[in-house]
Amino acid sequence: MLCYKNVVKFKNAVWKVRGIIQISNTGEQIMTEKFVLAYSGGLDTSVLIKYLQEKYDAQVITVTVDVGQQEDLTSAGEKARKLGVLKHYHIDAKDEFVTDYIYPAIKANAIYEGKYPISTTLSRPLIAKKMVEIAEKEGATGLAHGCTGRGNDQVRFDITLSSLAPDKKVAAPVREWGMTRDEEIEYAKTKGIHVSTAAKKYSIDASIWGRAIECGLLEDASQEPPVDAYEWTVAPEDAPDEPEYVTIQFEGGVPVAVNGEKMTPLELIETLNKTAGKHGVGRIDHIEDRLVGIKSREVYECPAATVILEAHKDLEKMVMTRHEVLFKQQVDAEWVFLAYAGLWVDPLKEDLDAFINRSQENVTGEVRLKLFKGGLQVVGRSSPMSLYDKNLANYNIKTSFNQSYSHGFIELWGLQTRMYNALKHSAKKQQENKKT
Ligand code: ARG
Repeated sequence: MLCYKNVVKFKNAVWKVRGIIQISNTGEQIMTEKFVLAYSGGLDTSVLIKYLQEKYDAQVITVTVDVGQQEDLTSAGEKARKLGVLKHYHIDAKDEFVTDYIYPAIKANAIYEGKYPISTTLSRPLIAKKMVEIAEKEGATGLAHGCTGRGNDQVRFDITLSSLAPDKKVAAPVREWGMTRDEEIEYAKTKGIHVSTAAKKYSIDASIWGRAIECGLLEDASQEPPVDAYEWTVAPEDAPDEPEYVTIQFEGGVPVAVNGEKMTPLELIETLNKTAGKHGVGRIDHIEDRLVGIKSREVYECPAATVILEAHKDLEKMVMTRHEVLFKQQVDAEWVFLAYAGLWVDPLKEDLDAFINRSQENVTGEVRLKLFKGGLQVVGRSSPMSLYDKNLANYNIKTSFNQSYSHGFIELWGLQTRMYNALKHSAKKQQENKKT
């Protein structure tokens, strides 16, 4: 036999061509599975390598995608190779992540349930896209991820992967293998997978847009997160005693410079993560509704995201008409829901992107913010496209605003309100007259 264990055999050799065709000694054509696995180097996905090899009879190609999680991803490759993968890919997708995923989120003021800048969410469709690219290149038959059946990420991966690669299998073995954590560790040991002895206190997921901290003590939603949960932000009480001012310049809805200094998109976010983190800005603790219905206590630190989104929203209000501002709030709410809900590749999301992109043409200008002991305030803004005219709002000077028009405006504006109340008033009067 030239092949791996046979998975699928076709008697009459009309190949749909999924996978690798191998010829056995007896001349039979045999197809083996080849899976591209999103790999982090952690326990779950390491066990998954072995699981795919043994239970799916598959060859495994691992891929780690750097979206700015600030972890040592080089050792993941070594680990994967030791576990017998066919190939390992390391992809630095940080720049693409910023321009193609974070930028649209900034333009859409993307905050889920009033608190969460969707820092984990945004990276999923990008990782899925990279997996599919590799799968195409390598002629893989399947795509696998290590998400459990309880979270949102399974939804994002399954929908994006199966939409981008409808001809490939999508597997989520962790969802179906039914192993407890202890059983998993046992399995790992028998397969020679290194299990770190230091029991991890938290489950962390990070991207350049923020760090999500879950599990352990945080599951008691009534308790303040322990100090060691945070790494990117200091406690507000330990922040500097002097406030710091930051000015962010925007062009066409995206940030291009900080304090007058032009930076690459990635540098700009890294800089603001540091500056805001130093002042304890960007800590988030809230109860979040997952797609599968579970309410979960989520803790995040998203310093740059918090600052940039606050500034962007403020600038929009200065340059957009009131009709645009109010309508866009609804579009933004829909956009962030679709992104959170795993529908990044849904056409509605693309339709909304078209609207949002058009709406950003005038979102140019700068916003000044004050950072102090965990607090963040916009304290100034200016724009060449501003619709704010300080003379119009002023009560003391004569301007082109003709106050005599206001009377007529109010007559018409309140017409129906007055009609309704007049009816109510006369009905009440009639009632009173009947009584007397
Ligand atoms: N709840 C967040 C989301 O759905 C992030 C959770 C990620 N945390 C994790 N450990 N995977 O986007």
